[in-house]
Amino acid sequence: MSDLGQKPEGRALYRYHYPSPELAARYPFVAHEHQRVDDRTMRDRVESFRASADRRRSVRMFSPDPVPRDLIEAAVAAASTAPSGAHKQPWTFVAVSDPATKSRIREAAEAEEHTNYLENRMNAEWQEALARLGTDHHKEFLEVAPWLVVLFEQRYELRPDGSTRKNYYVKESTGIAAGLFLAAVHEMGLATLPHTPSPMAFLRTVLDRPENERPFVMFPVGHPLPGVLVPDLARKALAEVLVVVDGT
Ligand SMILES: Cc1cc2nc3c(=O)[nH]c(=O)nc-3n(C[C@H](O)[C@H](O)[C@H](O)COP(=O)(O)O)c2cc1C
Repeated sequence: MSDLGQKPEGRALYRYHYPSPELAARYPFVAHEHQRVDDRTMRDRVESFRASADRRRSVRMFSPDPVPRDLIEAAVAAASTAPSGAHKQPWTFVAVSDPATKSRIREAAEAEEHTNYLENRMNAEWQEALARLGTDHHKEFLEVAPWLVVLFEQRYELRPDGSTRKNYYVKESTGIAAGLFLAAVHEMGLATLPHTPSPMAFLRTVLDRPENERPFVMFPVGHPLPGVLVPDLARKALAEVLVVVDGT
């Protein structure tokens, strides 16, 4: 066996090696490609990622300028690298640029949001939380943005022969894929908005999705309208979101 799992002084770090020889004989494994870098390089990299992530903002007015389809495909490919429970990848991204379909989605979303905002389906506490964002039932951006990318979670796996299998940690997995999609769109220089005109069952009907899929979130994607404003929000300080248990 190689010296994997050995401390420099030679003492075994792991009693139970992964994969075990039995496992490796049964299923394929490959060497993990990894280039170790020094602490300074890691600090530079994470600071540059943090600064970029901190510039991401949800935009609610998009430019109608077209965005090439390959950029949307690349963002979905990046998102689909997300880890998932039992590697089931329980998600489907539906990318819509067809104006008629975007119009149907806007119409249905505005109907749901009308009930939410104007017929008090959202309770007072929820409305109060949203007040500073100033969102309402008007969703013109759903037609103006060149792309609407609708992310569906696959509640269970539906195989081509009609049989089904369980999926695991569907929401967690799909949520991570959504986060990677947001990051990919932002990194390439486009803008988006996680949009949830709840209930979103209409998306399954409009987009003719199978019974195992449930809408998770949708993302209008495009260039921001020049000069667009966003709410002046502060993000929580590190000390508010991080607890370190370091044994000291
Ligand atoms: C799961 C989720 C659902 C959201 N749904 C909506 C929505 O339906 N409408 C909307 O205008 N913003 C929605 N947002 C965007 C949030 O309001 C926004 O992320 C938050 O105000 C912080 O702003 P930022 O994205 O610019 O950092 C949603 C965000 C998340 C993560």
